[in-house]
Amino acid sequence: MAPSNTHNSDQKPGHGFIQGHSLIELAKIHKTPLYVYDGNQILTNFSAFEQAVSLLDSKVHFAVKANSSMAILSLLSKVGAGADVVSGGELERAIKANIPAQDIIFSGVGKTEDELLLAMRYNIGQINIESGPELDKIAELASMHNLTCSVALRVNVDVDPGSHEKISTGQNNTKFGVSLADGKAEEYYQKIASHPHLRAAGLAVHIGSQLTNLAPFEKAYIALLEFADHLRANGYDVPCLDLGGGFGIDYENLKQPDFTEYGMLINRIFQNKGYRLGFEPGRSIVGNCGMLITQVIYVKQGTDKRFIIVDAAMNDLIRPTLYEAFHQIVCLNEHESETGIADIVGPICETGDYLARGREMPLVLAEDFLAVYSVGAYGAVMMSNYNTRPEAAEILCYNENVHLIRPRRTITDLIEMEKNPF
Ligand code: LLP
Repeated sequence: MAPSNTHNSDQKPGHGFIQGHSLIELAKIHKTPLYVYDGNQILTNFSAFEQAVSLLDSKVHFAVKANSSMAILSLLSKVGAGADVVSGGELERAIKANIPAQDIIFSGVGKTEDELLLAMRYNIGQINIESGPELDKIAELASMHNLTCSVALRVNVDVDPGSHEKISTGQNNTKFGVSLADGKAEEYYQKIASHPHLRAAGLAVHIGSQLTNLAPFEKAYIALLEFADHLRANGYDVPCLDLGGGFGIDYENLKQPDFTEYGMLINRIFQNKGYRLGFEPGRSIVGNCGMLITQVIYVKQGTDKRFIIVDAAMNDLIRPTLYEAFHQIVCLNEHESETGIADIVGPICETGDYLARGREMPLVLAEDFLAVYSVGAYGAVMMSNYNTRPEAAEILCYNENVHLIRPRRTITDLIEMEKNPF
């Protein structure tokens, strides 16, 4: 998100505005913790991605798991985005956001019968299957219900993406895809191609998320292409190659994603090969378009450390706790230049509840507002109600307007959802 340079007296220059709106003012109106998105930047990223791969026949499917807000999906739907979904819930969201069923891809290792049937009834564009048992299940359901569907095979190309182990999916020791190592992939493709209720849509690959280097993409795509060419040589129809997501963003220096070199790589590998290409970017479309605004509750000087205790916690943003992820954090209020090292922590009763550790920060005070950067992807979607904390509210700034896209639930809402037999 490009911080604006305009500022008023109590705000730090260079930070604190989205599309002309003061983050402090938004926080005062909507209370904190508060996710704030820049809808214009989301569309800029999406069209930059589309542009980068536009020399070949391609379709960009936004990975809904990164941010499944109905408003954001609808915004992307208006500019022609397809969707990559991983659950019946995400599928319903994509349909409700008016993304055409034919532009939806369903991925994931554990689709249930209900989910597969839902996808077949909507007649979505492609279901990526990831195992023999899943293929048997989809074939059985299609025959039993007299439905047909397009099925692609997600392959495991055994490539290390060089990312955090919890978000690496490309190696044979992960649960993802069908390995190319033992001949099963061809056997499964043959089954798809010969089944009267299944149409062979092609192959898919996704080796992981937050890749900051193009080399693993290249390795994976070449392995995929070789296998696709091999299938074609054996007489199979392989119309489409789904190249997954994974393009990383710059959490440290906040540079805008630049897809140019990625696009050049795609051209170099796939030009004149005659495959339709699919893409499933999530983080690179929305990651840098969201901030989490939080207010300082207390500043506590411990014996060893200073703790900035804020009202956002691991239930609002789990990435630092779960992946040791780094997010830039700035104070939105003006301070002298003096800084000190502090841990920025939430109110949850776990030592793992932190947004940053050992961070150099200005000498912030209680009631100051902080902005946590680059939380547009895998931020709000991973919220929980741990410690009976209502989720952060979400607002979207788009073309000068501010939309409350997810009001905060009350504690009463949370309690009343339950059934108490006593
Ligand atoms: N396609 C498939 C099949 C995926 O599994 C994923 C992400 C994507 C596309 C989108 O990848 P992206 O372009 O966003 O990297 N919660 C973690 C990230 C988990 C990613 C899961 N799969 C995080 O906060 O870093």
